Amino acid sequence: MIREVLKMGDPRLLEKSRPVEAFGTPQLRELIADMRDTMAHLDGAGLAAPQIGVPLRAVIFGVTRNPRYPDAEEVPHTVLINPVITPLGDEAEEGWEGCLSVPGMRGVVPRFKRLRYRGFDESGDPVDRSVEGFHARVVQHECDHLDGILYPMRIRDMSKFGFVEVLFPGQELIDE
Ligand code: NI
Repeated sequence: MIREVLKMGDPRLLEKSRPVEAFGTPQLRELIADMRDTMAHLDGAGLAAPQIGVPLRAVIFGVTRNPRYPDAEEVPHTVLINPVITPLGDEAEEGWEGCLSVPGMRGVVPRFKRLRYRGFDESGDPVDRSVEGFHARVVQHECDHLDGILYPMRIRDMSKFGFVEVLFPGQELIDE
């Protein structure tokens, strides 16, 4: 079921979410299915449970090659529950981000370039990957939502924050 995505200003987006305690349950499968439906409906690259008002540590993300977004890097479709992120090295890089909870805007955000992420899928099977670049950026963006952090809070140079239609006229960009 497609759910409403909360927008910046809603206090529920600022809460710290709690861990999922039971895997493979109908409730968890329904939550993930709703998140998938909602992300697909909005053509997003990722979505965190608190964005649909559910304060649990669950995110989904993934980007398939799409002619609408010729520059987007592919990211495998992933369900990540109770994630733990470990930066690999301290190298950071800046990159443009958008968010389904901050529609129509883009900002430049510093993120770790490489990281390892671990967690579980909705069945409780372990997930463990070491990634870099856009994939690593999306994971950091989604996991921030679980701690009540929205990307504008991480922007260092506010002159690099604005409306998509002004910054990137004529381009369609994917939100996280
Ligand atoms: Ni987001």
